[in-house]
Amino acid sequence: MKIRGTRIAVALVTIALVAGACGGGSSAKGDVEVFSWWTGGGEAAGLEAMIKVFAKKYPDAKFINAAVAGGAGTNARAVLATRLQAKQPPDSFQGHAGQELIGTYVAAGQLEPLNQLFKDIGLTDKLPKTLIPLISQGDNIYSVPVNIHRANVLWYNPKVLSDNGIEPPTTWDEFFAAAEKLKAAGVIPLALGEQWTAMHLFEGVLLGTLGADKYNALWLKGADWGSADVAKAIENYKKVLEYTNDDATSLTWQDASKLVADGQAAMNIMGDWADGYFSGTVEGGNLALTPGTDYGWAPVPGTKGIFQFLSDSFTLPKGAPHPDNAKAWLTVAGSREGQEAFNPVKGSICARTDCDPSLFNAYLKTAITDWSKDTIVGSLTHGVVAADPFKAKINDAVGFFLNDRDGAAFQKALVDGYAAEGPK
Ligand code: GAL
Repeated sequence: MKIRGTRIAVALVTIALVAGACGGGSSAKGDVEVFSWWTGGGEAAGLEAMIKVFAKKYPDAKFINAAVAGGAGTNARAVLATRLQAKQPPDSFQGHAGQELIGTYVAAGQLEPLNQLFKDIGLTDKLPKTLIPLISQGDNIYSVPVNIHRANVLWYNPKVLSDNGIEPPTTWDEFFAAAEKLKAAGVIPLALGEQWTAMHLFEGVLLGTLGADKYNALWLKGADWGSADVAKAIENYKKVLEYTNDDATSLTWQDASKLVADGQAAMNIMGDWADGYFSGTVEGGNLALTPGTDYGWAPVPGTKGIFQFLSDSFTLPKGAPHPDNAKAWLTVAGSREGQEAFNPVKGSICARTDCDPSLFNAYLKTAITDWSKDTIVGSLTHGVVAADPFKAKINDAVGFFLNDRDGAAFQKALVDGYAAEGPK
């Protein structure tokens, strides 16, 4: 009897441990501070949706939202760097899969490997095989990807285009012809925001001018940033910038997107977090527009059949004050339930391959299809293809170019930036 009882007790403890490790239990107690830059339209609402799932699964944990405002993490990442430097990390922070994660945080030894968690929650074979190398170094996995965003989207106001007899442009020549017409009609052809959105625009023009193979080669050893192709991309970029609004530097990405929604501008090149902002609820700080009717989308000119992607992922920093609670958060971020709650609101598709497509709106359904069949390339602005030091050089070069519009100087700065900080 006694022996049987002991066995049953051991079995029960084992079941409880496994359930806890799998995130099925309510084992997390106390604070979990999660750092991101999702404070604005689309973004905050997406995060809230995932926090709700977390609160339901872990009622004894207290979620502390340490989001720092500013699109693309421009402000947040500076705050984060200071905290990591001072050895005061949050329990988990957002980072982009790819060079941002591996070249910055992993290289600096700031993250704990998550192999055990991946095993416990059975995540490895639920993610696309192509994503794993972007969150790994050697045999170790360092983050939990929560989504896939598409960077190369041209958003447009269907009424403004049709009123002016314009089809969404598929090439840069078509774009320039459309932009001339729109300008003559007193419409801003392309809405632009603060500097990071100009870098986002640059990566779109670069990809749309070079094509996938030559774009990919730019991030590898032996790249030729001095090529005639890059010169052509710069020429296109310069021309595109002529069709943008004068007050770009003072606008957030949401402000720029809203110009399109309101019909003051005809088009905008932005990642598909714009879909979350366009279609999300007014209570969530969004515009509650109907996809396909109130706003349209197309690949950035010259990028049909190419999906320029990025992936938001969450980490476990070394020295996190509440590592078990952080693992509970990561469990939710990696779960189907968490991703199905988050992504339809955020304007992204699941990183997991088993989410229910019927939960996603008309735009996101096209992203799901394209992700499965297009040629995949990585985003520069959002951390996939270039490590921070090289990206910073490109950002500086873009900044100068926005002021002086000197194409030769821009290309030289890119060549020099690559020589100094590109892959060796
Ligand atoms: C990206 C991030 C997206 C979205 C966007 C605008 O870097 O991956 O999730 O937040 O910035 O802020």
